[in-house]
Order: sequence, then C-alpha cells, then structure tokens
Amino acid sequence: MLSTVSGPLLLAFLLGWLVVVSTGEQCLPYAIPPAERRSLQSDTGTFPLGLWVNGNSHDVGVSAAFSILVEEIVGIHVFTDPRRPKNVKHAFYAIAGCEENATSGWVCEGKESRIHVMLSAYMLYNEDELAAVNRMRMGGIITVLGSVGYSLFEGLHVSQSLIAKAWETQGLALEYYRSYHYNQNPSAAFNKISEVNTSDLVPCAEWGIYSPHVLDMYLKLTGDLDGLDVADGSFRPRCHQQNWWLSPTCRSNTTECIPCITCVTWGYIWYVEEIMQKAAVFSIPMALAGGSGCGPGGSFEKLPLTYDMLFYSWGPDITFQSLQPVKIIFPVSNQMEHEQNIFTSARAEIDQEILAHLDLQQWAPEVLGLLKNLNWQADDVSDMLGHHASSMEPSDIWQAACTWLQTNEATWKSWIPSRNSCYAGQGMYSEATQAFVQERQAETICQPCPPGTYSALVSDKIGDTAECRQCEPGFRQASYAAVTCDPCLAGTFASQKGSTSLSFYRFRHKNVFMRFQSLSTVAHRM
Ligand SMILES: *[C@@H]1O[C@H](CO)[C@@H](O)[C@H](O)[C@H]1NC(C)=O
Ligand SMILES: *[C@@H]1O[C@H](CO)[C@@H](O)[C@H](O)[C@H]1NC(C)=O
Ligand SMILES: *[C@@H]1O[C@H](CO)[C@@H](O)[C@H](O)[C@H]1NC(C)=O
Repeated sequence: MLSTVSGPLLLAFLLGWLVVVSTGEQCLPYAIPPAERRSLQSDTGTFPLGLWVNGNSHDVGVSAAFSILVEEIVGIHVFTDPRRPKNVKHAFYAIAGCEENATSGWVCEGKESRIHVMLSAYMLYNEDELAAVNRMRMGGIITVLGSVGYSLFEGLHVSQSLIAKAWETQGLALEYYRSYHYNQNPSAAFNKISEVNTSDLVPCAEWGIYSPHVLDMYLKLTGDLDGLDVADGSFRPRCHQQNWWLSPTCRSNTTECIPCITCVTWGYIWYVEEIMQKAAVFSIPMALAGGSGCGPGGSFEKLPLTYDMLFYSWGPDITFQSLQPVKIIFPVSNQMEHEQNIFTSARAEIDQEILAHLDLQQWAPEVLGLLKNLNWQADDVSDMLGHHASSMEPSDIWQAACTWLQTNEATWKSWIPSRNSCYAGQGMYSEATQAFVQERQAETICQPCPPGTYSALVSDKIGDTAECRQCEPGFRQASYAAVTCDPCLAGTFASQKGSTSLSFYRFRHKNVFMRFQSLSTVAHRM
C-alpha cells in the first residue's frame, strides 16, 4: 500500500516551493478596470474571491490565469492566499474558515471563510476528511466541481532533441519503451556513465529506500540477485563505483549503459523500485543514479540539462520545460499490479479536481460558471509554463499565464460564461432600462435576484439562462440570490407579490390591537 501512495506523496512533498504574488498589473487589453470590479457580499460584509494555491508550478500557473480571468473579464476582485498548504486536507479546512493550531488541531469557530476556490486538489484517499469538513455545516461547505481538465503524470522522460537525434541517426523511436531493448543498441544516443561528473550524484550509501520490501518483488520478477545487496535484513540496490545501480543487460559492460537520474529528497530516492523493475523486465541497459533535490536548486534539476540521459519527471511542470520532456510510453497502467508492487506498467495519472465553497452559488454564480467550464489540457499547461523566463519566480509565472491568455484567446473564451446566460440565483437584467427582464436583449447582463424575488431557470433559443420572478402571495424572500421563496409562517401573510418580509394579522379587539398567530386563534379569541 505504501508504494501505491508514493506517487501522490512525491507530488505532496513538492508542494509549496512557490509563493504566489498578486502583481496588481493588468494583463488583457480590454480588462474591466479595478475600480469597476466588485467584491463578494454576504451578511457579514464584502470580500474578494479567495483562491488557495497548492504551490506546484502547474497550479500556480493555472491559478494565475484563473485569477486574471476573474478580475479582468468577470470583474470580481481576487485574493490569492500566500500561505502554502501542506496537503489537500489543509485546503478543505481553509475553505471551511478554520485555522490550524499547533496545540488544538483545527480550530473552526464558525467564522465565514475568506477562501473559496482551489483549482487542483488531489481527492483520492481524502474523501473521509472532506466528509468531516462538510459535516460541520448543514448542507455542506465544499463542493467538488470535477476535473480542472488535465491530470498529473509521472514517469521516465527523455528530451525532445534526443528523440529527434535517435530517430535520425539510428531509426530508434525513443518515446517508446520497446526501443530501449539492449538488442537495438539504444545507449548510442546517450552519454556514457563515465562522462557524468560523479560529484553531482548522491552516493548509493545515502539512498533511503522508501519501501524496502518492494525490492522483494524485484527479485521475484527478475531473479536478479546480483542486482541486490542485503543490509539490516532488507534488500538494497547493489551499486557500481558507489553511484550507479546497473541493470542486468549492461552490468558486464558499462559503456552500454544509458545513464538515468531520479531525485533524492527528504532522504529517499524516488521510485528506485519501479525504475529497476522496468529496466530489468524490459531488458533496458540502464545505470540508475540519484540527483539531490526534487525541486529547484539541487543537482537533480541540472543533470538532464547537462547530459543526454533519461530522467524521472512529472508534469505538467516547469522543472525540465526547456528540454521539452517526453514521457516514455510503457504498457498501459495496471492498477491491480501496482497494488501488488508490480511496476512494469505505467503509473496511473492523477486527476485534479476543483473545490469550491458552496456559497459561491449565491456570492458569484458567474465564477461558478467559469469553474465548471474550465478545461485545461496538459499541453496547454506545459505551453503556458514554457512561456516563463529563465527563473521560477511567481511573477514570471504570472507573466507566463498572461502571455498564454493573450495568445490563446479562443481556448479561454469558451470558458467564460456568456454575459447573459444567467445561473441559479441570478436573473437577466437590462443595463439600458436598469430593470430585471424576462428575455435577452442587447444590453442584458446577469444580476443576483433581489429580495422579494427568486431565480427561475429558463431556456430560450440561445440556451439556458435564468430570470427573477416575484414571490407569489403567501410566500416571501428576504435574501438576495435565492432560488425559492419561503412560505409565510403561520399567522403571517404576504398579501402582495414580491414580499420581502412578513405581516402579522392584526385585529382590533376591545380597542386593543392584538397580534395573533393564525386565523383560527383569532376566531377562538374573539
Ligand atoms: C491554540 O488554541 C489554544 C486554545 O485552544 C489557544 O489558547 C492558543 O492561543 C491557540 N494558538 C494559536 C497559535 O492560535
Ligand atoms: C564536477 O562538479 C564539481 C561540482 O559541481 C566541480 O567542482 C568540478 O569541477 C566538476 N568536475 C569536472 C571534471 O567537471
Ligand atoms: C562494450 O560495449 C561497447 C559498445 O557497445 C563496445 O564497443 C565494446 O567492445 C564492449 N566491450 C567489451 C569488453 O565487450
């Protein structure tokens, strides 16, 4: 089980190395100016739309683009929380308005949350925690709106330029695992391990093995006892010159080994068991080493830029963007095998889900509409991150998001809810006559239905929208953006359409005005 969660764990450990800044700059030429943007409004006050960002480059980029669209196209102020969440549960509690307290855990004092949206949450294994948070309020707090469009992927990668070179010079298709069979001499396209500066490698002796028992499965699958050492009762990879684990097909002649790098962080070498299995089972001549750090700053990040080698990577991500990394195609992911620690198939992709505060329905239904329409493809995200300058500064990522929006208008335009396709809680409103209307006209926009009315969904030739209707006599509505009217309480009435509040039956009896709860009590008392 541990090994099956190691995928998400790697991603989780990478969380939080980027902090988001709000630049206050304008990106799009026809942006709604800041002075004309509105805030969200509840009974307790006004506030910007709060955005929670998990800190990985893909989420920082997609959140920056979302924030630009909400501010400049939808016209609502956005606040991006600079805190760096530790995990998805943290996001649940943040959206619920809770604070983490070192001594007493999560403190949820019933405060209204100022965080409303997270664009890429990893939900698997987190359902129980979500249910716990939703149980804190009748009707729930968080809604999972479905996928943001792309999934996260991980695996062995090779650069686009090496793929081109091997195809031209050897007719080898390096994007495909079969091309790495030793019979086809794939190592000719790569650096030799003797050419790699070993001072950039983390020696094998320092590799922490996340789940040593998984190496039992390596032995079972391959019978390759020569590839293993025994230490403290468990197996370890047996290393060549302190730095390289050699796969069986190049162990006798290391000039035939393809150098491959994975990252070593928090003391662990990532996916060593998986890479060893794939190399041995598919007869890939490979020498596996570890580079320090999985994020920026370590040798892991720099080695694939320096040498022609394979590298373990994940995405969409900014780290190796300049190499145009291509994920090597292995057999289609077999989850049942992965649960048994058999890793010869590809690792499953991880869906990213959008979380939204339930009250967004009332506060900003057009934002909810935008969230439901978002459909980022992994290629879009990579393309966006590819616009970044040479650094990983959040302001550069904001610029990358802005450049992507400027050059991909057709894609995001389809995500913007039509100005007069209203959502539940809203109604069509004419800017020309300053009144709510029952059909779309040139100047029609959407506005929250005022007290005394409710929002009804309707369809016309253009599609679905909503209109505000007055509450019927006998019903009333005191709130904005309601979708129903409430029946009057016993003893109260609303004699007119569009009532916002209640009247009591008042009868003059012996020159005293009396309030009665119902007509029958009136009859009884008189
Ligand atoms: C944590 O909670 C305790 C009481 O539950 C409180 O006294 C303390 O100030 C809180 N600490 C922080 C950092 O909020
Ligand atoms: C190897 O790398 C180290 C540290 O990065 C550097 O000091 C050294 O000069 C390099 N050696 C060679 C031969 O390039
Ligand atoms: C090792 O492999 C290289 C490249 O395939 C080859 O040129 C060399 O002759 C081999 N050496 C031995 C000892 O087999």
